[in-house]
Amino acid sequence: MRILLLTHAFNSLTQRLGAELAQRGHEISIEFDIADSVTEEAVALFRPQLIVAPYLRRAIPESVWSRHVCLIVHPGIPGDRGPSALDWAIQEGVCHWGVTVLQAEAEMDAGPIWASANFPLPLAKKSSVYRNQVTQAATAALLQAVQRFESGDFLAQALASLAEVQGRLRPLMKQAQRQLDWQRDDSATVLRKIHAADGFPGVADSLFEQPCHLFDAWPEGLLRGEPGAVIARRETAVLRATVDGAVWIGHVKRPDGIKLPAALAFGSEAAALPQAPLDGWWRSAATTWQDIAYEEDAAVGWLHFEFYNGAMSSAQCQRLQAALAWAKQRPVRVLVLMGGRDFWSNGIHLNVIEAASLNGASAADESWRNINAMNDLTLELLSTPNQITVAALSGNSGAGGCFLARAADQVWAREAVLLNPHYKNMGNLYGSEYWTYSLPRRLGEDAAKSIMRERQPLTAQRALAIAFTDACVPGDGPAFRREVARRAAQLAEQADWNDRIAAKRERRERDEAAKPLAAYRAEELAQMRRNFYGFDPSYHVARHHFVHKSPASWTPRHLARHRELGWVVP
Ligand code: COA
Repeated sequence: MRILLLTHAFNSLTQRLGAELAQRGHEISIEFDIADSVTEEAVALFRPQLIVAPYLRRAIPESVWSRHVCLIVHPGIPGDRGPSALDWAIQEGVCHWGVTVLQAEAEMDAGPIWASANFPLPLAKKSSVYRNQVTQAATAALLQAVQRFESGDFLAQALASLAEVQGRLRPLMKQAQRQLDWQRDDSATVLRKIHAADGFPGVADSLFEQPCHLFDAWPEGLLRGEPGAVIARRETAVLRATVDGAVWIGHVKRPDGIKLPAALAFGSEAAALPQAPLDGWWRSAATTWQDIAYEEDAAVGWLHFEFYNGAMSSAQCQRLQAALAWAKQRPVRVLVLMGGRDFWSNGIHLNVIEAASLNGASAADESWRNINAMNDLTLELLSTPNQITVAALSGNSGAGGCFLARAADQVWAREAVLLNPHYKNMGNLYGSEYWTYSLPRRLGEDAAKSIMRERQPLTAQRALAIAFTDACVPGDGPAFRREVARRAAQLAEQADWNDRIAAKRERRERDEAAKPLAAYRAEELAQMRRNFYGFDPSYHVARHHFVHKSPASWTPRHLARHRELGWVVP
């Protein structure tokens, strides 16, 4: 079928659904929801047999839903309606939640139901639930709905006809309903409220007596203080006491500002706080916030890096490089780089770079520092002569993050993961992280060029099929971790481990003799210097819009196939 995806943005859910439908032979084109007239035009051009709306912020025009079946993906159980579905479920601590695929009608979220899927709701950030449980359930429900539509004999169920409806109409959750009371709320309540607002809009509160929105909260098991007092800092986060413990706040957004690491947004205030350092890189035995953590299991070392949104600033890259250099000295045969739960890495930290320009410093200089720090980290990984390295992607990865992963000997991705191994969407950025070394070596020159040019997301299955990755591992996060442990132990125990290490060293030496890594880096950085400091400001403009979340004013041509020159309905 020709299926038009109508969406507010090409977010990971839209990417996943588009890729899954395309893999099943459907012809997919994408249009951003910009204005009713633009949607009508897209429908007229593409003449879709079905319209799917994975992520919309407003209603589909009647001119469209009255003539075409439009399937809306709603992140709530059947009967649930309203724009804050997940927020209410998380804040109220419900145990089970779901996704419903329903048909657009005049009343929002109240149309006939085509399919639904449920999941146990963990205590986790809204953004994390959206990227994991919701995406998984949405994929299952949408594929079922599309199949039912295609069969032509399925009658979608009107809400009123359902025997038992647990969901109901809920209003937009306002800040008043999210409000924190530091003199009363225990840590669990504070965490739940901030989790329910994570990603967007955050919880309106204050730090150091200045208003801000809070995001990215983590529990603390040991440290305590006067309820409400900010009592310590560690790297990018600050610690605030509750009535029964304390909670780490990782990110904040100040009025008219952008979302930033808390210790950067409140630089001078945070600097005056006592430090609460951890003892080296080993995973702390106590419950706390630890962005880089090392564990060991017999001959396998595990390096976790839980960076918010997968963004890696210069300082984070430098610390991770130090941790990796330290881990390489451990007596292990295999080193697994686990990244974070939701993201493995999304490359340089665009918000921290943008903040440099807002503070009167140079965004170009900060970009330059950041890409060099990413490259140093990538080089540290490429130069690991004594261990087999594995990048294990439990979460998505984009841009430079994909090529940091590709610097490992093996890349294993969880089956639900999406990869975006390209840079051009960020204002024609050329990219670095030694991609000109690692990508053509894996895929060949032509395939490498087309990956960069076409800028399409890769599912884990597709990434394996084109040999960008080495394995596609089934299961959810915990199952992935168990399977990675099994495979890593097997690698470490293999009788030919010494031969593998010798072959790896030899290959690296051969490659170095043919063309030194320094030469790849110099060539890439020459291009990046032009992106950062040159006459064409595209990268700075694109970064500004990305960080400030400017609404899209058109759909990129590589997504809107129906707008390609010469497009005709087949
Ligand atoms: N720097 C800073 N923030 C980043 C980031 C980066 N490199 N990559 C993603 N983010 C943030 C987004 O702004 C968003 O912030 P929010 O919490 O305020 O909503 C959050 O991470 C999630 O991003 P989103 O785009 O919603 O996630 P997604 O899973 O739907 O899409 C990508 C993933 C990778 C396709 C998309 O985030 C992207 O294009 N990132 C930029 C990658 C890049 O160009 N890096 C620089 C070159 S190396």
